[in-house]
Amino acid sequence: MAESYPDPAGGEAFSSSVVLEQTAAAPESLLASPDQLSQAEITQEIIDYHAAADAREAAGERVALTLHDFPPYRSSILRHPTKNPKLVDPETIELWSPAFGQRDVAAIESDLTLQHTGEPQGERMTVQGRLLDSWGRPLANQLIELWQANAAGRYIHQRDQHPAPLDPNFTGAGRVVTNDNGEYKFTTIKPGAYPWKNHVNAWRPAHIHFSVFGSSFTQRIVTQMYFPGDPLFPLDPIYNTIRRQADRDRLIGQYDHDLTIPEFSMGYRWDIVVDGPDATWFEPEGGDH
Ligand SMILES: [Fe+2]
Repeated sequence: MAESYPDPAGGEAFSSSVVLEQTAAAPESLLASPDQLSQAEITQEIIDYHAAADAREAAGERVALTLHDFPPYRSSILRHPTKNPKLVDPETIELWSPAFGQRDVAAIESDLTLQHTGEPQGERMTVQGRLLDSWGRPLANQLIELWQANAAGRYIHQRDQHPAPLDPNFTGAGRVVTNDNGEYKFTTIKPGAYPWKNHVNAWRPAHIHFSVFGSSFTQRIVTQMYFPGDPLFPLDPIYNTIRRQADRDRLIGQYDHDLTIPEFSMGYRWDIVVDGPDATWFEPEGGDH
């Protein structure tokens, strides 16, 4: 049964954002139920399912590095294909899919603190890194999109009813095209943790969503960047769909004091590797938290 938070800012709180309409949906926020498990029960489930996967692997079974059907993450069954892939004509798809070019992306779109008349609230930060292939080669001229909650952990989205303030000076979406060295850089505000209704007292670690477009729409992949030392890591069923700590670590932006700008912003470095053994983990289609 759905449960809704009070809306402290009235109807104005749900000012729509076309940019975020397809990205920041939080359908689990509508899934509150009186029979939900506690955090302790979910944490134990995470431990048990990882142990079971390890045991199956030790017995010789090939177990995927991502647990797509992961019961502690209650809606994970809804978030990956359940039918066999179907071949389609890629040229037909390209006629209908979005397209972009270097000229379509303005430099200012990579600075989420400059999109309104005033400055957003929160800790100003930059995140920058390189987009690489499995051989460590830079991927130039690639569209990287980013979306996130504000400093209070609130998305501009009608389904986000977390009773934290919206920020009139922060939309939470940006994009950039990698340069010739595969480098990207965003200036933004450090997002806050936010509650979701996977279980009782469920909170997502602070994270920024990233999308990498590839050379065509059908190659688009989506992932999340986290922040070092988050105490919510062992509690989060989404983070823990990834079995190996080394793979989870590749989702954590590293604080880099050399990227911190004096009197202005905290600097994080995060490289994205799109395939190969060092690949950044990417979520199945449909993941939105
Ligand atoms: Fe999110």
